[in-house]
Amino acid sequence: MATIFDKCLAFTAAEEVRAGGLYPFFLPLGRNEGTKVFIDGREMVMFGSNNYLDLANDQRVKEAALKAIEAYGTSCSGSRFMNGTLELHEELERRLATFLEKEAALCFTTGYQTNLGSLSAIVGSGDHLIVDRYDHASIMDGVFMALGMKKGVTLHRFRHNDTADLERVLEKIPFDAGKIIVVDGVFSMEGDITPLKDVRYLADKYNAAVYLDEAHAIGVLGATGRGTCEHYGGDYALSDITMCTFSKSFGSIGGFIAGGAKVLDFIKHQARPLIFSASMPPANIAAAIKGLEIIKEEPQRVARLRHNGDLLRQKLQDEGFDTGDSETPIIPLIVGDNEKTFMLWKMAFEQGLYVNPVISPAVPPQRSLLRISCMATHTEEQIDFAVSILKEGGAKLGLI
Ligand SMILES: Cc1ncc(COP(=O)(O)O)c(C=O)c1O
Repeated sequence: MATIFDKCLAFTAAEEVRAGGLYPFFLPLGRNEGTKVFIDGREMVMFGSNNYLDLANDQRVKEAALKAIEAYGTSCSGSRFMNGTLELHEELERRLATFLEKEAALCFTTGYQTNLGSLSAIVGSGDHLIVDRYDHASIMDGVFMALGMKKGVTLHRFRHNDTADLERVLEKIPFDAGKIIVVDGVFSMEGDITPLKDVRYLADKYNAAVYLDEAHAIGVLGATGRGTCEHYGGDYALSDITMCTFSKSFGSIGGFIAGGAKVLDFIKHQARPLIFSASMPPANIAAAIKGLEIIKEEPQRVARLRHNGDLLRQKLQDEGFDTGDSETPIIPLIVGDNEKTFMLWKMAFEQGLYVNPVISPAVPPQRSLLRISCMATHTEEQIDFAVSILKEGGAKLGLI
């Protein structure tokens, strides 16, 4: 007799990779000191974290979180809609709105929920969602939620960073129909940057709004870390809604959108992941407030991160590696083949270098890669260590 669990019993893909000694996922980390982590008591150099500015280990951020626990406890025990809004949430929202020159901001419990809630709320029947093919999974899940909840929503995808293809899509949609273009500022796997000025130009030409996911851009791009709009000259009206997460540069967890006050008030009353899930806990709000303060006060961290990314990318390219179109501290080392990707990961891992292997569906088939990410606090010695290990592995596998 068939049961719902048959597919689980037949699922062997992970076991097969485990049996081959090449399984790279769900590895439990021990102590974490930023660029140095410990796995099974063994010290490793971390080049696989989104803790770009190393604020998750900053003493000031840790102290802010501890103080908030003392004052407010460990949980808000309710959603933003009911008993789960603290003065702290609103303080963080005011500061974020000012930081990004928007009228208002709205915090969610995770970045994932931010995309899920905002996109599913803002899109209504008859509206059109237009996404870059490389947009993050949380954006796509927000799209799927909108499609599942509302009738007559249409999804369009355009080729990655290809504004001619975006225009081809826009041309076909009636001018008066509601439409929103959704792009990542910095793409999470490839480290390349959206052509935001051209996207804005097309949005204006075809009566569309722009939703910008800045998860990997705030704290990373622009002289003061304000992200993709700052990178393109500091016009914050390049996006209508800016989204970001606190789990990367801010050293916390949670997410937010920033935009027009009326639009955010609507989302606030419609977004199911905001209304039906407990709010961001006090420690994480306080950590994000402190993280934001440090980003504002210490732009040298952002500069150092950029320097490290540029240095590592150049060194990898000099060795003959394909690093795609990366322009940021996220550097893809493109391998192409799943097995070789796992083998290169394993060689690096055994020698004390932590990087992330990425295979389909996170990237298109035949574009498997090692995702390398820099932090502001990496030393040149650590960068050279990473290059020498990858060079040795890459040569053995015939990649360079
Ligand atoms: C581009 C992008 N958007 C949204 C998210 C979701 O953020 P979080 O992990 O903080 O929920 C991520 C996280 O990986 C991301 O890379």
